[in-house]
Amino acid sequence: MDIAEVLTLADQLIFAKTGKHLDYVQDAILRGTLEDATYTQIAQELYSSPSHVRNVGSDLWKTLSKGLKRNITKNNLRTVLEKGIVYNYKSSIVENITGENITVNKNLNVCPEKVRSPKTPQNPQPTAKQPRIDLGDAPEISTFFDRTSELTTLENWISSRTRLITILGLSGIGKTALTLQLIPQIQHEFDCIIWRSLHNAPPLQTLQTDIIKFLSQQQETNPPNPPLSRGGEEIQPPYPRRGEEIQPLSPPLSKGGLGGVIHHLRSHRCLIIVDDVQTIFSSQQLAGNYQPGYENYGAFFKQIVESCHNSCIILISWEKPREIAALESHPKNCQTLQLNGLGESAREIFTEKGLAESENWSELIEFYQGNPLWLNTIAAAIQDLFSGNISDFLSYDSLVLGDLEYLLHQHFQRLSDSEKQVMSWLANQNKAVEISKKPALLELSPSEFLKAVESLRRRLLIEKVQKGDRTLFTLQRAIAEYIKTHTFEQSA
Ligand SMILES: Nc1ncnc2c1ncn2[C@@H]1O[C@H](COP(=O)(O)OP(=O)(O)OP(=O)(O)O)[C@@H](O)[C@H]1O
Ligand SMILES: [Mg+2]
Repeated sequence: MDIAEVLTLADQLIFAKTGKHLDYVQDAILRGTLEDATYTQIAQELYSSPSHVRNVGSDLWKTLSKGLKRNITKNNLRTVLEKGIVYNYKSSIVENITGENITVNKNLNVCPEKVRSPKTPQNPQPTAKQPRIDLGDAPEISTFFDRTSELTTLENWISSRTRLITILGLSGIGKTALTLQLIPQIQHEFDCIIWRSLHNAPPLQTLQTDIIKFLSQQQETNPPNPPLSRGGEEIQPPYPRRGEEIQPLSPPLSKGGLGGVIHHLRSHRCLIIVDDVQTIFSSQQLAGNYQPGYENYGAFFKQIVESCHNSCIILISWEKPREIAALESHPKNCQTLQLNGLGESAREIFTEKGLAESENWSELIEFYQGNPLWLNTIAAAIQDLFSGNISDFLSYDSLVLGDLEYLLHQHFQRLSDSEKQVMSWLANQNKAVEISKKPALLELSPSEFLKAVESLRRRLLIEKVQKGDRTLFTLQRAIAEYIKTHTFEQSA
């Protein structure tokens, strides 16, 4: 039984006994206790005071003791839960120590009180709540085809309280459209949803202030516990008693910044969507290196994964931030969706564009990897230059045209010299190749070569092909074509 199961179970027990779910402080206390943390350590994690955490803990043990009719303390919690409950939990019935049965619902998750409600199909809940949504400058999507499995994956991650989701993919593959399509499907899970683009490369402080401004409006309209305030600044519990000296406010909560964001993420279930994350990475360096002055974004993302809360942040990017690879070892908290092309569903694009010769559509989709933006661009060019005649277009030597070159150029101008060399080498291979040995003609050390390959993988610019137990690497055809007809040869 892992911590998540114990927490879910504890939550269900408390709900069955009190009609209330664990709040975020109780949740943190239970997690901390199961991880042998002291009250002081838990308080640090919560930016709260040890005495407040101890008081909440003491009440929590009393409630659990009543529910289980057995004395529960911080010291014996794990043993009692495991010995008394685990066996029967497997059959969805908690038989407590007194023999009383409490039916529990395995689908319940531990989350803030406002969000949680048991899913009982026989007794449906009132209509789903409406979260506050600020989509900022997110684009509108007009048409949207398929992506059923990707939407299901994202929905599942969100329902299981994944804290950070990265959606990776080349430009135009449909990351933004997919995420916008997701919102109506998951919005009932959240109290507030905010979308921000890093297109203009805002410093982290600016983004955090913007997010806190929006999220704090949520707290004003719907506070989890009515906050006390002094001079416009919120005082966190434990509130001072009469005559007691008022302690200075804890900086993270009162002044914003990372602590402020985390505080809001704990108080309500929030969804933060950060688009165009690649903007804050350096060009002409290996992938995922922050531009000078933007390194603190890395700590921000890491803290969101590692802190205790029930909110979620979705990062949309061409490149994977460096921290994410390490954080993915905790798949419950951190997941990555690599977005590939639309496949045969992309035929709808050609139908919509009124293209003829449907027998040639699959070839176009394969060549442009089902990338909806590339296919839209190419379909428009075929209509304009070839009166919709695909075979005339396909008979041309060079298949990369007009605006598509500009789209690909955006990716290539970001590459380091070593990456450009590897790309040029790969573009000139006729088939997928092994990389176990550095090719002799490349003026790179073996380590530079491997780093470049790894970085290109992180940018999703080279593809892996598994042939039995051999791993081979290759380029998408449109990308190879682009490189062969452009300027990278001279750097290889
Ligand atoms: N599933 C889809 N069905 C139809 N059109 C789509 C689909 N996904 C994306 N598109 C269209 O393709 C274009 C590119 O999509 P989108 O802007 O979401 O790509 P992106 O991956 O976010 O690109 P970038 O990284 O450059 O922001 C848009 O015009 C969008 O409407
Ligand atoms: Mg986008």
